[in-house]
Amino acid sequence: MPGLAGRWMDLANRLGRRALGTTAENPPVGCLLEKDGLVVGLGWTQPGGRPHAETVALAMAGEAARGATCFVTLEPCAHHGKTPPCAEALVRAGVARVVAAIGDPDPRVAGRGFAMLRAAGIAVAVGEGAAEARRTLAGFLNRIISNRPQVIAKLAVSSDGRIAAQPGTETRITGPEAWARTHLLRAEADAILVGLGTVLADDPDLTCRLPGMAGRSPVRVVADSQLRLPPHSRLAASATETPVWLLSTRDGAVAPGVSVLVCAAAPDGRVNLADGLEKLAGRGINTVLVEGGAHLIDSLWQADFIDRLHIHRSPLTLGPQGLAAGPLLTEAAKRLNLITELRLGEDTASVYERRGQD
Ligand SMILES: NC(=O)c1ccc[n+]([C@@H]2O[C@H](COP(=O)([O-])OP(=O)(O)OC[C@H]3O[C@@H](n4cnc5c(N)ncnc54)[C@H](OP(=O)(O)O)[C@@H]3O)[C@@H](O)[C@H]2O)c1
Repeated sequence: MPGLAGRWMDLANRLGRRALGTTAENPPVGCLLEKDGLVVGLGWTQPGGRPHAETVALAMAGEAARGATCFVTLEPCAHHGKTPPCAEALVRAGVARVVAAIGDPDPRVAGRGFAMLRAAGIAVAVGEGAAEARRTLAGFLNRIISNRPQVIAKLAVSSDGRIAAQPGTETRITGPEAWARTHLLRAEADAILVGLGTVLADDPDLTCRLPGMAGRSPVRVVADSQLRLPPHSRLAASATETPVWLLSTRDGAVAPGVSVLVCAAAPDGRVNLADGLEKLAGRGINTVLVEGGAHLIDSLWQADFIDRLHIHRSPLTLGPQGLAAGPLLTEAAKRLNLITELRLGEDTASVYERRGQD
């Protein structure tokens, strides 16, 4: 059972999670102001990354912020960007204490936020709720530290390890609960990535279609080395509403709303995925949800780029002519930590995470 500070931070972490997938390139942060056992302000990073969580919480608290404790999931910023630094705003508001889950590795902050607070006589404690904060902020931390987004892969497999009834065909493998969870994962990601094979076979929309959450559809990205995305595909046809980016080795015009990110070529002539991920990071993408297919996921797996993996398993059997999920299915449990298992109607979900995340 966490102590009182742990419980407030738990709430701040939940607030931060609400912002997942909406704040790129900024981090999804949660913040809560507590005074005399009452919440006087709360907030999370707003869509597009601004205002920051602290600004929202301080605005809600008004004068009540004076003497309060601020629970925040990431070190308050110290740099003058498009808005003045949050550390300065906390000082001005007269906050007495700041409890932060983790420091911000962004070189423009990196300890300066804490130093600014301490210099103004504010007590600062760091580390409460750190594991949970790191999980929500993993994409931002990855991008700042490694210059690539957090890669989250999701794959639906039959009981005999197949992802389609036949290569190149679309197969509904899992049920409505797994569908809803997938769409939630989409809402929480900054981008969705698929290989061209999936577009040609399934002609997917790749939007978030949960009731009331249509606005949470992230940018849709296709690994398409030769710019073969069909202009009449659903993705191309809807690109002026929900953007489509192509990771390609060549430049060219495909359809209105479709942008091409020219990447280095791998030795086999396909997209060099290290470069592709860097290009996404360069556009501020913190988290990318990879939804297949087998070849793209296998390339990412072989290059050790997959940070988190959701496997949705169905009781359905597809038979030996089906498209195999590839080695990751058997290797996942050896290479990654199993962090969650859930029942989704007739199906199950197993979530794995790169070791050493906590
Ligand atoms: N069950 C599931 O969860 C699920 C999810 C998605 C898809 N599927 C099924 O999977 C099948 C499609 O999968 P797939 O394996 O054939 O195709 P895929 O992985 O979706 O796409 C592969 C294509 O992506 C392009 N690509 C570019 N750079 C790449 C790289 N570095 N590594 C790998 N690919 C790269 C290549 O085409 P270019 O050379 O032209 O660039 C490659 O042929 C369909 O039957 C679909 O229904 C199942």
